[in-house]
Amino acid sequence: MENLRKSVDKLALEGDLTDDEFLTLLSADESIDEYLFQKAAAVRQKHYGNDIYIRGLIEFTNYCKNDCFYCGIRRSNKNAERYRLTREEILLCAKNGHDLGFRTFVLQGGEDAYFNDEKLADIVRSLKEKYPDSAVTLSIGERTRESYQKLFDAGADRYLLRHETADIAHYNLLHPPEMSYENRVRCLKDLKEIGYQVGAGMMIGSPYQTKEHLLADIRFLQKFKPDMVGIGPFIPHHDTEYKDQKAGSLKQTLRLLSIIRLILPKVLLPATTALGTISPAGREQGILAGANVIMPNLSPKTVRKKYLLYDNKICTGDEAAECISCLTRRVQSVGCRIKISRGDAKK
Ligand code: 5AD
Ligand code: FES
Repeated sequence: MENLRKSVDKLALEGDLTDDEFLTLLSADESIDEYLFQKAAAVRQKHYGNDIYIRGLIEFTNYCKNDCFYCGIRRSNKNAERYRLTREEILLCAKNGHDLGFRTFVLQGGEDAYFNDEKLADIVRSLKEKYPDSAVTLSIGERTRESYQKLFDAGADRYLLRHETADIAHYNLLHPPEMSYENRVRCLKDLKEIGYQVGAGMMIGSPYQTKEHLLADIRFLQKFKPDMVGIGPFIPHHDTEYKDQKAGSLKQTLRLLSIIRLILPKVLLPATTALGTISPAGREQGILAGANVIMPNLSPKTVRKKYLLYDNKICTGDEAAECISCLTRRVQSVGCRIKISRGDAKK
């Protein structure tokens, strides 16, 4: 326990540990958690005060050409009811969101060829024209560098693309042979070079994940230095290869949130919907462990239940306005407040 505390102190002070120290921390029992969470929350507080940023998520298509083994909208899931929002529906989601105080819109979707560069660039341009005070984030998977460039030129500010795992063999256990870790990292590097604020990340407790894999993720994040890191527990989806695998734990996810806050002190770190799904107060606990972003759903209620990456996803029956009042309460319950702003990372 003494040694663990020393490790946490060192991590908070220097933002780094040796491999052995990280592995020991990742395997430690719960008694260290409160101490770790408090250190991480103090660093969040130092850079962001009590402010929690909100992002309006618009899940605009669940068509996907990919077949990631863990994901409920993978192409071989014939039971998924597919949908696409129209340009007008997307703009309407954004209008509702803007009225509610959102100043970041996240366009998230499967890898859907219907939304080619031209269509997407047009949507991004319209959003930026109508809401010049807001940021547009894209979360639409792997594309060519040229495509990323076009969308950036159309005005997109940020891009979320989780690396999923920084271990090649593990990557190949989670993805079909036509996907590669190499291309994933190529995408992330292109996005950064083009000038996007970039988000990487991984699931916690994904099938076959070991402590060593998590250490590789930590090293990857330290090296790549993303502006945002999205992590959440793996949760099985009943129509996937991995339906019988165990879900990731609340405890390990919170621990990783704290570690990430300490290695990348100014990172934008969401308490994800998946975290709120495995535990009723998961997102609040995420904030207490160092998270500073929440991403509620702005998609129309009619499609919410169709964008199911995993089972039992929360908030699929609520209007955006209901989510906001619910979140306002939740954020206040842990001594923070929702900040109405673009919420860029502090430099
Ligand atoms: N459980 C938790 N997270 C998942 N994702 C996909 N499927 C699942 C699942 N079953 C995550 C992936 C992806 C992000 C959009 O959602 O990490 O990058
Ligand atoms: Fe959506 Fe609570 S955040 S209902």
